Amino acid sequence: MDFLHRLLNLIAPIVTLNALFFLTPLYCVFKVLCYINRSISKEDVTGKVVLIVGASSGIGEHIAYEYARRGSYLVLAARREKSLRDVAETAKLLGAPEAIAIPTDVSDIDDCKRLIDETIKRFGRLNHLVNCAGVTPMCMVEEITDITSFTSVMDTNFWGYVYMTYLSIPYLRKTKGKIIVIASSASWMPAPRMSFYNASKAAVVSFYESLRLELGSDVGITIVTPGLTESEMSQGKIMNKDGEMVVDQDMRDAEMSIVPIELATASAMAVVDGGCRGDVYLSEPKWIQTTAYWVVFFPEMVEWVNRWFLWVKVGASPLDAPSKKLLDVPGLRHLAQPDSVRSPEIKKG
Ligand SMILES: NC(=O)c1ccc[n+]([C@@H]2O[C@H](COP(=O)([O-])OP(=O)(O)OC[C@H]3O[C@@H](n4cnc5c(N)ncnc54)[C@H](OP(=O)(O)O)[C@@H]3O)[C@@H](O)[C@H]2O)c1
Repeated sequence: MDFLHRLLNLIAPIVTLNALFFLTPLYCVFKVLCYINRSISKEDVTGKVVLIVGASSGIGEHIAYEYARRGSYLVLAARREKSLRDVAETAKLLGAPEAIAIPTDVSDIDDCKRLIDETIKRFGRLNHLVNCAGVTPMCMVEEITDITSFTSVMDTNFWGYVYMTYLSIPYLRKTKGKIIVIASSASWMPAPRMSFYNASKAAVVSFYESLRLELGSDVGITIVTPGLTESEMSQGKIMNKDGEMVVDQDMRDAEMSIVPIELATASAMAVVDGGCRGDVYLSEPKWIQTTAYWVVFFPEMVEWVNRWFLWVKVGASPLDAPSKKLLDVPGLRHLAQPDSVRSPEIKKG
């Protein structure tokens, strides 16, 4: 046994390097051909039933508008009822034949069951499930006052996706439907103050990669890894060290710095296009995918840069982080942040 491991330790890197060298060009050609094929046979979602969880603001809201423009029936879910109803009204104006708002806490399995039951009762079928609900804790682990309050992050960001998926699969199988999973590029990129968020997103990616093998071609799964995108989260709505949801734009600035924030309309259009094309993975904006290669090939360097740039001592102000100071250089904030995310106003109800 020990001999076998020693042999594999020697052979596996050589085989892998050779495969990288010889297979990469072939693989790229294969990927381009597959992309062309998927683009030609892209799904038309006119008249299809789409359930979007996390539709009251940000990316989910704009995904709703994008499906509406394409003529889909919409079921919109999140906790804030008034905001959901407003989104439903706008979606109808944009072209959705029908859009209903169902207030739901996705971390509660009974709420999820009710959401699916009401969807099927109303429309009799489900074609796309879009999982987009999320909360963003942003604090150093050592600063947390009650660690148990952070289990709620996994309840929403991971279990919320899992519950909705588990309950939807029987209906998606019938329609050969699709699951659009809004994960994050944070799933691969380590950063101080983001441990819980990044772990929840890595769990989501891993869950769906395995589930895809179980479902095969019966239900499509598109894993989306957005970079920074215009939303309430990028306005600074975060969970702080006391487990409370607050708007903290200094913390946001220290964490996001000069990384450009993409407009939600552009992101939503790319997500719906990718879902309709049946993409397996989708990064938006596209360049954010290249950061994954840095993490794979130069992990220590990424770690060193992110610590030097983003980290401050436990108890210190995020205003002291080099990332925040760089953003304060005149002109850079305007380059990185759209006007909308500079306002601390978020939807209330
Ligand atoms: N913005 C970015 O830069 C970025 C980047 C990568 C990935 N993402 C991911 O994109 C997704 C959408 O976030 P966003 O950026 O658009 O932020 P957002 O504007 O804060 O939207 C979050 C959405 O999730 C809903 N939500 C939160 N907790 C919920 C719960 N327990 N039950 C049901 N709905 C819940 C919120 O609605 P209620 O509060 O009304 O419940 C809201 O509709 C998240 O999964 C986030 O992690 C965002």
